[in-house]
Amino acid sequence: MSIDLLKQDLKQHRKNKTALGDALKHKQEHAAFKKDVLTLFLRLNGGHAQHWMYGTNKRPDGTTGSGLYSDFIANNRHYYPIKAESALIHEVINKLSKEYDTMVEFGVGTRNSLLNKTARIIRTQPNLKRFYGFDISQENLDTARQVLSKHVPGLTLHDVCANFYTKRFRPQGKHVLGSFLGTTISNLNMMVGGTLPRNELTKNLKKLVTNSKGTSGGSLLFSFDANDDWNQIDKAYSHPLHDKVIIGLMHDIHDKLKPEGNFNPLMWQHVQINDKKNHVKHLCIAPKQDQFFKIGRYEFEFRKDDTPLVITNCFKIPVDVMLGMVEEAGLKRISAPISADDNPMVMLEVA
Ligand SMILES: C[S@@+](CC[C@H](N)C(=O)[O-])C[C@H]1O[C@@H](n2cnc3c(N)ncnc32)[C@H](O)[C@@H]1O
Repeated sequence: MSIDLLKQDLKQHRKNKTALGDALKHKQEHAAFKKDVLTLFLRLNGGHAQHWMYGTNKRPDGTTGSGLYSDFIANNRHYYPIKAESALIHEVINKLSKEYDTMVEFGVGTRNSLLNKTARIIRTQPNLKRFYGFDISQENLDTARQVLSKHVPGLTLHDVCANFYTKRFRPQGKHVLGSFLGTTISNLNMMVGGTLPRNELTKNLKKLVTNSKGTSGGSLLFSFDANDDWNQIDKAYSHPLHDKVIIGLMHDIHDKLKPEGNFNPLMWQHVQINDKKNHVKHLCIAPKQDQFFKIGRYEFEFRKDDTPLVITNCFKIPVDVMLGMVEEAGLKRISAPISADDNPMVMLEVA
């Protein structure tokens, strides 16, 4: 009898612990969101709030950031980065060493990217035993687990749910391949009028190379967009669904932070600014009317003609500039840049 009671107590205790953990996670996420929005509105930073655009918060019209983003990619035939990168995988497979026993994917992304890139690389690695998915989103890690266990069975799968730039990490295995695809390297901070954040990029690369080290070595494969055809770039990012992705963040701010005053999520527009000298397209929001509001203790005054705020930066980095940064980071290039004719994407393997 007392054993049964004890079992019940333990069960309840586990339930409470999970509920407490969830509440804590929610609180931390809310605080991180608030911090990113405040620093955006205070113009202390730009491009750093981009990951909140792809959330699952339901907006008044029933849409979500992640849903809109998938729709945008599916509907804009000019959006080239994903297709162009997948087309390069064939070249990558031919060039990669076949000795890797471990793969670490920094940013596992979606089912499509896992099938079109990750699984294709895994299939051509005869010695691969284990795979680490490393992502800030547990939802993405769960998807990765499902997709990989079904399509490339036989690997030991591990999840690391954390920020890959700050978490100290040492994978098991002798030869480790770190893969960092989807041009995630280009999620860098920069405001309108700033300069190419070389230090941030080199620091990030170094961190990921360190996180890709096995007992006998390892390397990091990463992709970037080296497109210099600004006409093609403009077409890729200009689409009504993309406007909704960017402006959608204002609905989430309205919902979660409840600004006091005349903050109106419908009165913001998506503005794009090309800074070709610094190899970046800034995707910004700008008020369509003057808005005065408070979030907690912070008061904001936005005028219609104010400089736009950068939600995300899309860097288009020429190969020679990227090679210069790899050198600045003190990294070694494993092979020549991997590229193909009429394909603006480039991959580099570094150690
Ligand atoms: C642009 S997507 C690329 C996904 C995929 N690798 C591809 O090739 O399409 C970026 C992914 O990295 C994750 N991510 C972005 N920044 C991160 C960070 N600092 N730490 C951990 N995960 C991050 C996101 O959740 C997302 O899954």
